[in-house]
Amino acid sequence: MKIRRVVAAYFSPTGNTEKLAKAMAEALGDTEGPPAEYIDFTLPDARCREYAFGQEDLLIIGLPVYAGRLPNKILPFVQQKLKGDGTISLPFVCYGNRAFDDGLSELVYEQKNAGFIPAGAAAFATQHAFATTLAQGRPDEADLEEAKAFALDVRQRLIAAGSGDGLAELPALHVDGNTPPGPYYRPKRMDGEPAVFLKAKPLVDPGKCVRCGTCARVCAMGSIDPSDVTSVPGICIKCQACVTHCPKDARYFDDPDFLSHREMLETNYTARKENRFWFAE
Ligand SMILES: Cc1cc2nc3c(=O)[nH]c(=O)nc-3n(C[C@H](O)[C@H](O)[C@H](O)COP(=O)(O)O)c2cc1C
Repeated sequence: MKIRRVVAAYFSPTGNTEKLAKAMAEALGDTEGPPAEYIDFTLPDARCREYAFGQEDLLIIGLPVYAGRLPNKILPFVQQKLKGDGTISLPFVCYGNRAFDDGLSELVYEQKNAGFIPAGAAAFATQHAFATTLAQGRPDEADLEEAKAFALDVRQRLIAAGSGDGLAELPALHVDGNTPPGPYYRPKRMDGEPAVFLKAKPLVDPGKCVRCGTCARVCAMGSIDPSDVTSVPGICIKCQACVTHCPKDARYFDDPDFLSHREMLETNYTARKENRFWFAE
């Protein structure tokens, strides 16, 4: 088989998924053919467009796991705007050291429904957007090397699988998790009760904020008013882009259930999780 174009598409409010997508794309793009292309669908504008792929393309697609599944507000983009036509893909998820639950199986399932042939898949443990002590600093150099090796391994296996009509014979990919996916994970507080913070929105420390507008620019839902960043009229998916990218550390959440959930995660999910890889075989 010939891969003439490598495209890496990612949703990555706090940057971890982007790092891994780029590592894999660079590994493939560097070794054969033209440099990789990127589709960053973190911001709303990029999710308005459609992207079509053919049989000589390879799509690397990455999303973070939110509540044990793909982020539900981003799912329609994955289902409807990325269109494969017997296109080989390499789906992966990032998760914050708790669990990826049905996030990866959902992505593989949706990719198959959208005309892609997933040839390999991965789940990476990456720093949690809520709690920086979970998988702190990951992806690190070792994770990025693992990601590159995985991408090259998939490519080798594709070459070994044959040329011409070999793709049609590629075995189905099976990953951990339910297909179709089960219910979303319900976050818990320290006392074990459900943590309910769906309506929480990020606040601004007026003593720190310099009105630079970064938070409004990076908001994955375009929900922060750029002319008054203290106002968040739109929906908040708690992605933490505003908190992470604020140069003055001025944005924060004070919702008690959110804070209790963070403490619960920091208390219970400290053990290092290894990255996982699957191949169509
Ligand atoms: C709203 C939300 C829900 C999350 N749910 C989970 C989860 O169920 N399991 C888990 O291990 N990590 C979870 N995480 C952590 C993310 O998967 C992790 O922070 C990931 O690295 C974020 O990717 P990004 O840096 O590309 O934005 C969640 C993060 C957010 C913001």
